[in-house]
Amino acid sequence: MADYDVIIIGTGPGGYVCAIRCAQLGLKTACIEGRETLGGTCLNVGCIPSKALLHASELFHESNHNFKKMGIEVKNQTINWEKMLAYKDDIVFQNTKGIEFLFKKNKIDVIKGWAKIQGPGKIAVDSKTYHCNSIIIATGSEPSSLGDLKIDEKKILTSTGALALNKIPEKFTIVGAGVIGLELGSVYARLGSDVTVIEYLDEITPGLDMETAKAFRKILTKQGIKFILGAAVKNAKKSGSKQIVNYQLIKSKTNERLETDLILVATGRKPFTEGLNLNGAGIELNHYGQIKTDENLQTTIEGIYAIGDVISGPMLAHKAEDEGIAIAEMLAGQAGHVNYDLIPGVIYTSPEVASVGKTEEQLKEEKRAYKVGKFSFIGNGRAKAAIATDGYAKILADANTDRVLGGHIIGPSAGDLIHEICVAMEFGASAEDIARTCHAHPTFSEAVREASLACGNGPIHS
Ligand code: NAI
Repeated sequence: MADYDVIIIGTGPGGYVCAIRCAQLGLKTACIEGRETLGGTCLNVGCIPSKALLHASELFHESNHNFKKMGIEVKNQTINWEKMLAYKDDIVFQNTKGIEFLFKKNKIDVIKGWAKIQGPGKIAVDSKTYHCNSIIIATGSEPSSLGDLKIDEKKILTSTGALALNKIPEKFTIVGAGVIGLELGSVYARLGSDVTVIEYLDEITPGLDMETAKAFRKILTKQGIKFILGAAVKNAKKSGSKQIVNYQLIKSKTNERLETDLILVATGRKPFTEGLNLNGAGIELNHYGQIKTDENLQTTIEGIYAIGDVISGPMLAHKAEDEGIAIAEMLAGQAGHVNYDLIPGVIYTSPEVASVGKTEEQLKEEKRAYKVGKFSFIGNGRAKAAIATDGYAKILADANTDRVLGGHIIGPSAGDLIHEICVAMEFGASAEDIARTCHAHPTFSEAVREASLACGNGPIHS
């Protein structure tokens, strides 16, 4: 006799959203969580705390740069770092409590401890065994380590340590110009650190539309972040209270060094599957250490499913959430589905960067005839009023049918604006469909409309 219809391992955005939808669809549901609080990496040491620090540091930066222009005189503004961290911790606390509330409301049981899968429908937590009809693995990911850089979370950090520093560093070196490196680099650059980002590739943010990546790097450089591109970090050595980062410039093979106070290693994340007994349970991994799943998110063992960062695909909270909802619907006898072609990506810097669908590079590789509609925020009245004219909206549309194939935005609220393009693409819209949709004036969203107009008869404001 099963204790539950479904047991989900992990309460990150994949696990907790899945649990709620399972419960809403009438399935008796429990979640196993090893951490003290619910919410996984995203809520506890990832998306949410970083957004709190991004928000606070952006306001501080704004107060130093644009307030004067707007006639706001603020004198001697300083940072009370302890308070800023306390504000961040409080935001995390409120969010984790929110999930506890939702679990109670939906009658989802929480089993505290680390799960060990014993076989289909059988999970041990400490000395107790639980039985269920379906198991869903939603255990997320952990930071990857980098060669000789030994993480101590004091001088050599992952994102977890970088969100809880005891003081703002003077010199901060970041290894990896991906999303984590640039978001956290932005936080500390705005708070006064001298930030250098060392990146292996020749451009930042691999996978992003190349024109957008270049424009983004220029904006960040203007904000004071330094970039060393095409350089492989080898190791770091302690030198008094400082760290020396040793790296090699890939093309010239010259070895260089950089003195710094702290180092953030942001070179990617890997699936977190430790202690789950995947091998013992017969659950297979692929070449990258991700759990193999089929089109229904089922692992190589019947009745055991996996979602989110432990399987293939982008390591994004909203991708995990969508998979969690899809699997809940499938288990309840409905047709769950995730559209992997339309998962937006957002970098929460200032300006934000957001993208969905195809990049120009992908379209070229696919040899598809496409057109580009671009509109700069310089021509957007609302952006002018907000002193936030850096960036543009760019729509890629099929040259023959005008169907929207991709959208790339750098600019104010890009992370919100992108969803208009997502919805348009979900419905198979053309650029003209967006262009003919009335957009309120003055809004940042007019830039998306103007970019769509630029795919046809041309924008109005440029
Ligand atoms: P990433 O994969 O985005 O970027 C890592 C970067 O490190 C790459 O540019 C890579 O070329 C570089 N690199 C690797 N080895 C290097 C070396 N030896 N020397 C110099 N550079 C090196 O990884 P990141 O930023 O750690 O993020 C991990 C995951 O978390 C990503 O999948 C990301 O999408 C996700 N994430 C998403 C966020 C968002 O959606 N806003 C926020 C934070 C994380």
